[in-house]
Amino acid sequence: MKTPYLKFHKEKLINNYNTFQKVCEEHFNKNFQICFSTKTNTNPLTIETLKKLNSGFEVASLRELKLTPKKNFRVLNGPAKTHEELNEAIKNNVLIFIDSFSEFNKIQSVNPNNSGVQLGIRLGNKNSKFGFSSSQFKEAFEKINPIGIQLHQGTLNKFNEFQKNLKEQKKLISPYLKKIKYLDFGGGFPDNFQLKNLGLTLTDYIKEIKETFKDFRGIFIFEPGRNLVSDTYTLITKVITIKEKDETTYAILDAGINILSKMTLANFKFNKITSQKKETITTKKVSAQLGREGRVSAIWDVDNKVQTYTLAGPLLFGNDILGKWHGKISEGDFFEVENVGAYCENLSWEIIYEKVKVL
Ligand SMILES: Cc1ncc(COP(=O)(O)O)c(C=O)c1O
Repeated sequence: MKTPYLKFHKEKLINNYNTFQKVCEEHFNKNFQICFSTKTNTNPLTIETLKKLNSGFEVASLRELKLTPKKNFRVLNGPAKTHEELNEAIKNNVLIFIDSFSEFNKIQSVNPNNSGVQLGIRLGNKNSKFGFSSSQFKEAFEKINPIGIQLHQGTLNKFNEFQKNLKEQKKLISPYLKKIKYLDFGGGFPDNFQLKNLGLTLTDYIKEIKETFKDFRGIFIFEPGRNLVSDTYTLITKVITIKEKDETTYAILDAGINILSKMTLANFKFNKITSQKKETITTKKVSAQLGREGRVSAIWDVDNKVQTYTLAGPLLFGNDILGKWHGKISEGDFFEVENVGAYCENLSWEIIYEKVKVL
């Protein structure tokens, strides 16, 4: 087995999408559109599966416009859209969320009458580079006459911040709700692991949106990224070296922060792959908490000595450390790391080793 590699779990993606859809149907009947946040995972296996489910797509560049299916509903976001991107979006009837007055001028230069162009505007959060500020919003709405408004909750916000932001955003856009067809909520829906850790469900989020915006009669758009894909990929990695140094036992794997980037903000779960034979003789399931690195669970032979290992990657960087793991590890053992579907492949580096592949 040539490691490391990523494994796609198609049935999980189908299940996550269907769950999202079902929760939306319960609250909005047919008046909603799911647009997968493409940047979270652009693997053709992901896009093809979602295409077949008739998902919409949220795209942010010409590359993503080209990667996603023309026939599916699409929205274009981003603070740096070029003439070429705007032209391509207009040609393909993509709903464009205008991010600035400068961008609106660009749109007018490529399409002076705005005919046949679907335009929305983004309300930006305070102190972020995105969208229009609350003080610019009225002018932007009157000038652009959009058919949609986009909001975006910060990814991984606490639930009470999510509730508070929604209420503030509602206050601001209330006067315009009767004039628009689409209300887009962006992302901010935690992945399944995080929902479990928080003791929350997707329904809690969708219900909050429904209750806050119960007087909106148009189409609700959602742009989930990590909620749909985080747990749909796993990483298979091998233990290359066990070494003792300075009272620390290191298990050095063939995958490190080159694949499991901290920038993904995901909790990774490390499962040692135990051979069936060993497991049936004398094994015991144990799980332990792993600080910021996430939860780990271990299966080991109870007769063997167990200890705490520092899991590290193979890179020649001192910070290539993945977390602690308690159990028994030998050189040549394999780990299957869960929850690597959001951003890991796209953010993985080609450094010392090749970029990770999906097998
Ligand atoms: C505009 C927009 N939509 C959707 C998403 C996806 O959000 P999440 O990672 O919470 O799924 C993001 C992520 O940053 C985003 O910027």
